[in-house]
Amino acid sequence: MISIIGAGRVGSSAAAMMMVYEVDKEITIVDIVEGLPQGEALDLSHAAAILGKDVKIKGSNNYEDIKGSDIVVITAGLPRKPGMTREELAAKNAEIVSGIAENVKKYAPNSIVLITTNPLDVMVAVLYNKLKFPRNRVIGFSGVLDSRRMAFYASQYIGISTSAITPLVLGQHGENMYPVPELSMVYGKSLKSFLTEEQYSKVVKDTIEAGAVITNLRKFSSNWGPGAGLTLMVEAIKKDRKTAMEASVLLDGEYGIKGTFAEVPVILGKNGVEKIIEVDLTEEQKEKFKKSIEAIKNNLKQVPESYLK
Ligand code: 2OP
Repeated sequence: MISIIGAGRVGSSAAAMMMVYEVDKEITIVDIVEGLPQGEALDLSHAAAILGKDVKIKGSNNYEDIKGSDIVVITAGLPRKPGMTREELAAKNAEIVSGIAENVKKYAPNSIVLITTNPLDVMVAVLYNKLKFPRNRVIGFSGVLDSRRMAFYASQYIGISTSAITPLVLGQHGENMYPVPELSMVYGKSLKSFLTEEQYSKVVKDTIEAGAVITNLRKFSSNWGPGAGLTLMVEAIKKDRKTAMEASVLLDGEYGIKGTFAEVPVILGKNGVEKIIEVDLTEEQKEKFKKSIEAIKNNLKQVPESYLK
């Protein structure tokens, strides 16, 4: 069974795409708002009946219903409101994530847990500290979105399918992320070599700003991209695909970084993160990656320490 915590836009888009992909026979959506997860589940069940998908979708306000989940996807948390600082958001969401973690630990102690709550690399650290699960079972959702966004923007210039590109973005899921077109590949050829200098800069900028652009346009943040990315990650784990994609994971010496969650390429399979792929970086690239890590560390300071022990 897959459980999704949070019946907001991200949670329900993820549930919809997981139903269409039939990643599991059963999906449970949990939210604290009465009626919301039940209503989403009913609507999605109708959609499943229309599409002929044999997936049971259940809505609940009770964490006990996540019992037996092999994967839990946490999408709950506050988005930033006008006038709200990032610090306030980090502290508030740390409280929310920490409360959810207690329930996941209690009711789904053997699950693999994915999280989308922002600020992502900080919230996944809070989750990890509260769950005390091994690092392969605590995964931040970021890289699939950032890297495939880069493939999208680049493909607009090159006129090739996004699927022909293996894009690399490192570090923070935020303004300080480090997109690396020079190490993104179309077979053995660097993505950078397909782009003019101007296009290269634009691809990097658009990738970093993608989430903010969506939010500014429609006044609420992305959900279709996260829904699609979560579906791929859950499918990779559920079906033990051992496929490569990016995620925010706890680095323990990889890339010379220890103790920080950051976006890197990984292999996903039935054990969650089965391998961290260490791409060879030049000294200059290592420096840029480190700068992104510093931004994550600074962001961590905005969370009360009690959430990080
Ligand atoms: C995004 O990048 C809001 O983190 C979300 O779209």
